[in-house]
Amino acid sequence: MSPAAEYLRPLLSVTPKIAVVLGSGLGAFADSLDDAQTIPYGDIPGWPQSTAVGHAGKLVVGSVDGIPVAALAGRAHLYEGYTAHQAVYGIRTLRELGVEAIILTNAAGGINRNYKPGDLVLISDHINLLGQNPLSGPNDVSLGPRFPDMSEAYDKSFRVIARTAGAQMGLTLAEGVYVAVPGPSYETPAEIRYMRTIGADLVGMSTVPETLAANHMGMKVLGISCVTNHAAGVIDQKLNHSEVLEVGERMKSTLIGLLRELCRKL
Ligand code: HPA
Repeated sequence: MSPAAEYLRPLLSVTPKIAVVLGSGLGAFADSLDDAQTIPYGDIPGWPQSTAVGHAGKLVVGSVDGIPVAALAGRAHLYEGYTAHQAVYGIRTLRELGVEAIILTNAAGGINRNYKPGDLVLISDHINLLGQNPLSGPNDVSLGPRFPDMSEAYDKSFRVIARTAGAQMGLTLAEGVYVAVPGPSYETPAEIRYMRTIGADLVGMSTVPETLAANHMGMKVLGISCVTNHAAGVIDQKLNHSEVLEVGERMKSTLIGLLRELCRKL
């Protein structure tokens, strides 16, 4: 067992079934859990600290209508200096603890011209432009195969459930391809044109390492992007992180409602 799982197992009063990773400015769901136990990342052996603004850096284990859920408020990004291997430490720990399904949320720039800030988009597939893969290096066969399949990295049935849950809340959830870049600088308009050409609808600096590691371990993944801004050059406007956080804040209650419903239904 990893040092983190060894630390957490005796501490947690429930075994989470589902985990939710909360992206930039999207951490409020963690505070909506019932019977919550909060563990700062700094207390968990080996767990990377969150240094990004808008990331609380805590693991909250609690429940939604009696369903045990783990929420990760904050994640490790490559732009913080972490490797893709470090970025998946939390996911691997949760798998060891028994989590079977994971919802990955993120803030993303909208490359697709049909998207507008505040849209929630289901990730249908991804493109990895990080230049790193968390599965590189020696393969631990107890986790998964050397060459894992990624032909349905974002589970189709989960997307159907999410679209239906969204519709019941009056939300139309589009689907799109997410491209991950290392950051931390935002993209240039030329880079965004390139990403559109290769088939991307959304751009962000996270999620792909976790998706790769989760699929490697046989976990099912649902990915949800909150479009916080038009990607660079889509409209004549400069990008900044406070806009990203503001839109996350505006979408707080909608996202909490959707995530709670998904915890019940997935
Ligand atoms: N680019 C990259 N990452 C992001 C963006 C963006 O425009 N918005 C939120 N995260």
